[in-house]
Amino acid sequence: MLHVDLHNQVVLVTGAASGIGEALGRALAGCGARLALLDREREGVEAIAATLGSPGAQALPLAADVRDTAAIERAVEQAWEHFGQVDALVNNAGVYPVTPLLALSAAEWDAVLDTNLRAPLFTTQALARRLIAAGRGGRVVNVSSTAGTLARPGIAHYGASKAGLNQLTRILAIELAPHGILVNAVCPGVIETPRVKAHNASPEGREEAAAKRDKVPLQRFGQPDDIVNMILYLLSPEAGYCCGGLFTVDGGFTLGIPAYGPAGPGTG
Ligand code: NAI
Repeated sequence: MLHVDLHNQVVLVTGAASGIGEALGRALAGCGARLALLDREREGVEAIAATLGSPGAQALPLAADVRDTAAIERAVEQAWEHFGQVDALVNNAGVYPVTPLLALSAAEWDAVLDTNLRAPLFTTQALARRLIAAGRGGRVVNVSSTAGTLARPGIAHYGASKAGLNQLTRILAIELAPHGILVNAVCPGVIETPRVKAHNASPEGREEAAAKRDKVPLQRFGQPDDIVNMILYLLSPEAGYCCGGLFTVDGGFTLGIPAYGPAGPGTG
């Protein structure tokens, strides 16, 4: 695990109750950061915060649904009041259902877009307003996906949300750079969080997982720490020249075609 010095830093992580967000919270605590851990799963963030020291000292659990803009505003305010500052935000909360076009409802489209795209915008806005008023710089890291560029069936809503998040990252990076607020994104490939691991081991997921793994030049799926390391770097003082970058961490998944088979392609 990368070790960066984040003492005196307060980081707000959304989607902190499981998967990448949970691993990130624990790693940030190990780097000395104080944390606001936000998730719609109240018990999850409360349990994690409790393992990180006395209640509220190192980690403040916040229960909120990021689709609710007023709840986001309250959560950012609560974190700022509690710690007296918030220096960084990781927009990690996300949902990734797979639904073919003909079965996709407007409600499901809205739920995915509101969680994965609208929420990062308004959470960033809520923090940026406070940082700018306080004359402080800061960091924002958006957890995007290779699905923001790589097309595949069944993810019209998810792919569009992450493509939008990539462009949001670039636009907000330009808007906020003059204020010393650096905005970047990490684009993970397939990451073996407990949820993904369980799906890949299930009878429905096994075959697809093997086919996907074959398309990864490094021949393995990523681990949450592979993504956490990139996020830690982007939050560190050493990343002070990263502005609007989309950092792919996917074992080479999106590079192209890993192998044509023993005979080779035959044509260009
Ligand atoms: P996960 O499902 O394990 O964790 C997501 C967390 O976000 C959960 O604790 C959930 O309660 C929370 N959350 C979801 N909707 C919420 C809402 N409306 N309000 C508040 N909290 C909410 O997911 P995982 O795999 O850790 O994913 C984290 C991020 O990484 C997501 O943005 C996902 O799109 C992205 N990602 C994950 C990949 C993977 O293979 N695991 C691949 C590429 C991107």
